[in-house]
Amino acid sequence: MDYPSTRLRRLRGKQAMRDMVQQTRVSVKDLICPLFVKHGKDLMEPIQSLEGCYYFSPDKIADEAKEIYDLGIPAILLFGSSENKDSIGSEAWSHTGAVQQSIKAIKDHCPELIIITDVCLCSYTDSGHCGLVEDKQVLNDESCRLLAKAAVSHAQAGADIVAPSDMMDGRVKHIRQTLDAQEYPETAIMSYSAKYASSFYGPFRDISDSAPSFGNRKSYQMNIANSDEAMREIRLDLDEGADFVMIKPSLSYLDIIYRAKQNFMAPLAAYNVSGEYAMIKQAAKEGLIEEDQAIDEVLTSIKRAGADMIVTYFAKKAAKIYGQ
Ligand code: PBG
Repeated sequence: MDYPSTRLRRLRGKQAMRDMVQQTRVSVKDLICPLFVKHGKDLMEPIQSLEGCYYFSPDKIADEAKEIYDLGIPAILLFGSSENKDSIGSEAWSHTGAVQQSIKAIKDHCPELIIITDVCLCSYTDSGHCGLVEDKQVLNDESCRLLAKAAVSHAQAGADIVAPSDMMDGRVKHIRQTLDAQEYPETAIMSYSAKYASSFYGPFRDISDSAPSFGNRKSYQMNIANSDEAMREIRLDLDEGADFVMIKPSLSYLDIIYRAKQNFMAPLAAYNVSGEYAMIKQAAKEGLIEEDQAIDEVLTSIKRAGADMIVTYFAKKAAKIYGQ
């Protein structure tokens, strides 16, 4: 039936009517809040490149985690850092690492909060690369072994989910087998399956001091132009035992999120990364856009594309916008 009988504006006239026909709703339960930890005492240090985010010391993180849980957010994603970097990134699996200590502190204080840990070497290696480097090459299988050690140390400390973000081939299988062999069959894996070599990680590399000391990450992260390859990455990770898959970044990759959701029946996370966050923060600061509206629009679009959950630095703010 055509105009004038079909008038779609009938459904837009009143707020209550708009609410009735709204197809996508972001809930606080969809959110995952990234948190940064480093060694120290009584530390809550603002992160310059990521306004509104902080570095916490392990003794301070539990209160922050509780606040996040009380806002209704079900999960956090923990990132560590190191002042003792070496060639193999050994602090990544140290029992006294900031991440491992923070996991214990949070589990003591707020056991119901789901703790996801970023598993990577780039914050711990002196090369700043996500794997082990030899002759300026990032080695694949050797890196997988080290990543599995890091994952086990997180599981031992009490992490619920480990999230490898390195993009080595076969790391999900390695991590799954190692966790199972060490009696951690309950620890889940959220794989950064389709992680693109993106310019939108800029602010993050500042904060975690993990910029590569030479070259770039294009030999392991995905070519921004590829879509089929993302589906192959996801399929491999699911076959290797991933419980969740992730696409990262989000906004320039909504087509990948959509395609992944159509193709795979698995929990799908999208990472709304540091550069995407910074653009909104900066534009809002200059009065060019309204921040809360932009946050809602961005998160809604990521969910509309097909994401089941969204990692976002806006998590606390969004929890207040959406309520419980
Ligand atoms: C580590 C890692 C990165 C991010 C998450 N894990 C940086 C990178 O790959 O360079 C980026 C997160 C963000 O930009 O918000 N491999």
